[in-house]
Amino acid sequence: MTRKIIIDTDPGQDDAVAILLALASPEEIEVLGITAVAGNVPLALTAKNARIVCELAGKPDVKVFAGCEGPIGRRLVTAEHVHGATGLNGPKLPDPVMELQPQHGVDFIIETLRAEAPGTVTLCPLGPLTNIAMAFRMAPDIVEKVQEVVLMGGAYFEVGNITPAAEFNIYVDPQAAEIVFKSGVPITVMSLDVTHKALVTKKRNDAFRALGTKVGVAVAEMTDFFERFDKEKYGSEGAPLHDPCVTAYLIRPDLFTGRHINVEIETRSELTMGMTVADWWGVSGRDPNAMFMGTIDADGFFELLTERLARL
Ligand code: RIB
Ligand code: CA
Repeated sequence: MTRKIIIDTDPGQDDAVAILLALASPEEIEVLGITAVAGNVPLALTAKNARIVCELAGKPDVKVFAGCEGPIGRRLVTAEHVHGATGLNGPKLPDPVMELQPQHGVDFIIETLRAEAPGTVTLCPLGPLTNIAMAFRMAPDIVEKVQEVVLMGGAYFEVGNITPAAEFNIYVDPQAAEIVFKSGVPITVMSLDVTHKALVTKKRNDAFRALGTKVGVAVAEMTDFFERFDKEKYGSEGAPLHDPCVTAYLIRPDLFTGRHINVEIETRSELTMGMTVADWWGVSGRDPNAMFMGTIDADGFFELLTERLARL
């Protein structure tokens, strides 16, 4: 059964790999459109990078939209220190030829959910949740039409990667995250607890490079750049491939395990702003609202990823 999805993204090297995996898997995934959001780098760059990735995949017909320029209630915080000035540092990739769609990304999300049969469209946010939250606020009727939100964001055991308490995507727009997590929509969360177990070791990155294809080499070069930050900070064996965990879940949910728990977002204290307070041990008595993933079969994940990237 092919899943219809909208990818909401702030490319970002790991976003790029998530998009490539989706575009390489037409039997399981139909990408209705890609909406760019401000996050790792400003919107003009994320909207450009999303198109660069579609052309790298040889899919210039994918519809790419620009969404919101900044978070709902806060100044934009970006992550050039991780992703580089362009957001896609590493490989030398040509500027996009394909045009941006004229429609605003939030309007595309609303229009698509109203047009498609209820319960048949999955939203896959890979960056701050600004576009998703704005769509839910502007058109509350679409919330019940969403099949599932499968997002990369948050952390519990791994705590923060941008502050001691918060993961980047949630930290950039905590108000948006609160809207989404309180909306009642079915949510599956790929947090740092999972993505920090999906490390691109040298062996795994060499397997990408050994594909010898434009895509394989570009992904290896993205990782060569992207891994510096995490290897220095965590002393890890490689970069965590955060966003592709979302796409891999759509193809092979069996690679992951987690718990259906309550997750709330800190939106008041500056000290813990954007923290995902995940009730992993069920002590709060609050209703569960998210499938919070905790483990991944990392070898199975990289086998899937390498096999699919070879198709492009
Ligand atoms: O914290 C990791 C997340 O922040 C990933 O989605 C990465 O692309 C950045 O957006
Ligand atoms: Ca991202």
